[in-house]
Amino acid sequence: MSTAPVCESATPEALQRAVDVLRRGGLLGLPTETVYGLAADAENELAVRRIFAVKGRPSTHPLIVHLAHSAAVREWVAALPAEAESLAAAFWPGPLTLVLPRSTRASDAVTGGQGTVAVRVPAHPVTQAVLRAFGGGLAAPSANRFGRVSPTRAEHVVADLGSDVDLVLDGGPSSLGVESTIVDLSGPMPALLRPGGVTREALEEVLGRAVPTRLVGDVRSPGMLPSHYAPRAGLVLASRSAAGRVASELLRAGRRVAVCGPPDVDAPAGAVHLPLPDDVRELARALYDVLRAVDAAGVDVAVVVTPDEAGLGLAVLDRLRRAAAPRG
Ligand code: TXA
Ligand code: MG
Repeated sequence: MSTAPVCESATPEALQRAVDVLRRGGLLGLPTETVYGLAADAENELAVRRIFAVKGRPSTHPLIVHLAHSAAVREWVAALPAEAESLAAAFWPGPLTLVLPRSTRASDAVTGGQGTVAVRVPAHPVTQAVLRAFGGGLAAPSANRFGRVSPTRAEHVVADLGSDVDLVLDGGPSSLGVESTIVDLSGPMPALLRPGGVTREALEEVLGRAVPTRLVGDVRSPGMLPSHYAPRAGLVLASRSAAGRVASELLRAGRRVAVCGPPDVDAPAGAVHLPLPDDVRELARALYDVLRAVDAAGVDVAVVVTPDEAGLGLAVLDRLRRAAAPRG
């Protein structure tokens, strides 16, 4: 049994302890506006390897380097092309990750030995304070075990990782609730590798050209695995009008069923109703909480009402599809 790690609100003393943890190669649970990260000094190879070990993540799946501002990003990339400058000016600090040719500062441990590095300037004030006090880059994946539901609260990190993390800073619930958008700008054409907090529409407006999705690249990216972000219960996705019928069929088949959908969704008697907000921003914020609530409710399967694909809906749908995908 692993004991609980220290979880603290971000007082000046706790920030100092967080920087101490990072300096001695420890792992820090870090609040960001998207999800909580499992952070380590990106230039400490042993610490970076510990991230992979704790997550149970293959070392070929690279990490995002988090930096305090665009000036710091320049030290980690070989070049900041004009389109990267435009996106940085529009969306940093914020939920955008750029994949760019790396500089020598980005080690093989962080990049998985590739020629590119993923960089992000997060907006959360606690993480900004940690980054400024620490001074370097922080490698940080989402602070969950590989393939499981991402954490949007400090208590999720404590529950998932236990004493495998040295300190968790509590910065309140993540305001966005889904991971950053990942855009690959290392080639001639921008490519959307993961939909997230910055919408495709917003990217295209700034760049003045299409940002097509690239689902299969030469990079092995956990966000691109069929099953990811998954609760233990099975998920079935349904439209608002079909959810009640699908849930009834599952109940008749003897399954314990939850219906995750808007307050007015038709949830049959015998099914647990876990309400999902109608507004897509609120839906994104609530998503991972509800996926955790599915398991807490002790059901076998949850029928989840899907949002429209527009705007932030694309990121929510992406996570739901992976959570519902067949488990390997
Ligand atoms: O919102 C977020 O991005 C959160 C918070 C903590 O910042 N982090 C996060 O990290 O979601 P993670 O490791 O769970 O997902 C990062 C994704 C992975 O799918 C990884 O394979 C991909 O980014 N990635 C990292 N470096 C890459 C690279 N050089 N090229 C392509 N994909 C890369
Ligand atoms: Mg993740």
